[in-house]
Amino acid sequence: MPFTANRHFKQHPLLLESASGMYYRSRDGRQILDGIAGLWCVNAGHCHPRIVAAVQAQVAKLDYATAFNLGHPAAFELAAQVADLAPGDLDHVFFVNSGSEAVDTALKIALAYHRARGEGQRFRFIGRERGYHGVGFGGISVGGMVANRKVFAASMLPGVDHLPHTHDPARNAFSRGQPAHGAEFADALERIVALHDPSTIAAVIVEPVSGSAGVLVPPRGYLERIRAICDRHGLLLIFDEVITGFGRTGSAFGATTFGVQPDLMTVAKGITSGVVPMGAVLVDRRIYEACMNAAGPGQAIEFFHGYTYSGHPLACAAGLAALAVYRDEGLFGRAARLAPAFEAALHSLKGAPHVIDIRNIGLMGAVELEPRPGQPTERALDVFRHCFDQGVLVRTTGDTIALTPPLVVDEAQVGQIVAAIGKALRAVH
Ligand SMILES: Cc1ncc(COP(=O)(O)O)c(C=O)c1O
Repeated sequence: MPFTANRHFKQHPLLLESASGMYYRSRDGRQILDGIAGLWCVNAGHCHPRIVAAVQAQVAKLDYATAFNLGHPAAFELAAQVADLAPGDLDHVFFVNSGSEAVDTALKIALAYHRARGEGQRFRFIGRERGYHGVGFGGISVGGMVANRKVFAASMLPGVDHLPHTHDPARNAFSRGQPAHGAEFADALERIVALHDPSTIAAVIVEPVSGSAGVLVPPRGYLERIRAICDRHGLLLIFDEVITGFGRTGSAFGATTFGVQPDLMTVAKGITSGVVPMGAVLVDRRIYEACMNAAGPGQAIEFFHGYTYSGHPLACAAGLAALAVYRDEGLFGRAARLAPAFEAALHSLKGAPHVIDIRNIGLMGAVELEPRPGQPTERALDVFRHCFDQGVLVRTTGDTIALTPPLVVDEAQVGQIVAAIGKALRAVH
């Protein structure tokens, strides 16, 4: 099982059997309130009837079509709609099947773009400590979560460096929304650029909000500075919006919430509301055009990359239905409207046993706990189990409890989730 204590699981299995709206039903017949949208993905709520119907209709009509040399209309329609949602000139879309594939694809597009412009010497990528970019070799190389890297260290991409992370509890603990301190963490990029020479660097990749490392919200002014430094040195800026995409931060993307424009964007998860696996890379028009113009004449292939299931008809059907639900139910606006109540509820846990920080943006939140001496992660895992026993699903990452409910959550359910965490914290104490 992925990222799971397999032996422990076999002794204490937790099985989910069905789902609807905000709830799972467990194998033993209990209702579980989903505080994490499955795994940061089911933004429209579980088994949304419109998405279910769209996938059912699609599988009966066109089960599979290759995207190699052929196409089907839903893939082009979904690409157009995703591009419409995206800010600026991110108006070309390459479909993949996961966030990990999106990241590795975006890194390849960055290399292809520079080479197309005659700057093939730009091979370096800059990631960030505590970044999570999936589990491909590209993603773990630019990622900054030590446990995901150390076993594979000998096989990383060459020439990768990392920005410092922005977690600064001494100055920013219990910030609401964007922390006030830390824009200057971005200045490390100038140092790294100078060290390697800017002409060797292809791209910088960051999550607008670090998700898997425990919801680290960017300090005010930080992303703007990263953007400015990239512009100064001709580096592409990739936003990994696999979690922050599709309403999570209270607008379509983190880029729109924070008002900073990337050159490439990776998405997955919420693109289909988690119903069928899908990811995508959104590409700025000038990158697309450079790659097209550099290719040979006639029937030359411009980009030697792609997957059997790129633009899979079921994923496209789920994606089109999910976007329609987001639009018709106004779910991004709903997330923004609910964010203050979510923030207030979460921060009411300040003062609960062992809580050392609380962070939030949109419908994304984290409660960080003081680790038990010599037993990192154990306290948070105990809280997870207590919450599950109370019928509430939360997620842990290290000693942080992460919350990302479906965007259809209501205020009472937010209260229920937070109350369960409070109760668990007291019980574990
Ligand atoms: C920011 C980010 N990038 C990439 C990924 C990898 O996505 P997947 O698990 O679909 O490969 C994730 C997964 O959580 C993520 O949060």
